[in-house]
Amino acid sequence: MVTAEAPVGIFDSGIGGLTVAHAVMQQLPRESVTYFGDTARVPYGPKSPETVRRYSLEIAAFLVEQQVKTLVVACNTATAHALPLLRERLTIPVIGVIEPGARAAVRATRNGHVGVIGTAGTIKSGAYERALRALEPSLRITARACPLFVPMVEEGWVDHEATRLIAREYLAPLQSEEVDTLVLGCTHYPLLKHVIADVLGPDVTLIDSAEETARETALVLRDQRLTAHNPAGPAHRFIASDDPLMFLQLGQRFLGDAIDGVEVKTLG
Ligand code: DGL
Repeated sequence: MVTAEAPVGIFDSGIGGLTVAHAVMQQLPRESVTYFGDTARVPYGPKSPETVRRYSLEIAAFLVEQQVKTLVVACNTATAHALPLLRERLTIPVIGVIEPGARAAVRATRNGHVGVIGTAGTIKSGAYERALRALEPSLRITARACPLFVPMVEEGWVDHEATRLIAREYLAPLQSEEVDTLVLGCTHYPLLKHVIADVLGPDVTLIDSAEETARETALVLRDQRLTAHNPAGPAHRFIASDDPLMFLQLGQRFLGDAIDGVEVKTLG
């Protein structure tokens, strides 16, 4: 039986989803988080929808075994390919990052022209277009895959001349079409926020769905009467499918002291 004191489950293909974990911990300081990063199988971006769905179901089953009370799919690619299936198969609430990001973009746009960038899988799925149009059918949407951004962030090249060069190339069509709002539709892109902002200039609002996803998580928990009290304070767990030391080192960049150990679990 799931209780209110049970943890919030969050998963990503790797470490990038810690941006969502960070937002959840900030907004919901009493909630315990159990985070799974599929570091053995990252990246999901170039993989087929079937493969991403299989991985997502395996991770969800594992997190349900860990007694999580709700599941946050922090990975945009997994949300794009697997959210409906996860919602169908699980009995706990499942929250993705695409609907919250789309909502924030619709609120932010002034000229009705929204850009979306993401992995090849996310962009090809059309999931952001569907979510945006469901909210505002008259929007103009320009979507672009930026597959090189993920390896550049993984390499730590968040403020590197090569990254700027590639960003200029990827973002040129969005700039010439005058989008005024850009959804950063991938866990890694918020780390390139300043490079992207430099290329696009101050008139383009950048949407990072982590904050909005955490807000939605709070609402879902409240609606389901699952908000934790945890008087002793939350207990977080971090689990990776490969190389816990690397996860710990990179994870501390996102979360500081909130992450002090990483467990390993191999799936598949
Ligand atoms: N987590 C993925 C996403 O948000 C990016 C990394 C990957 O390709 O697995 O789409």
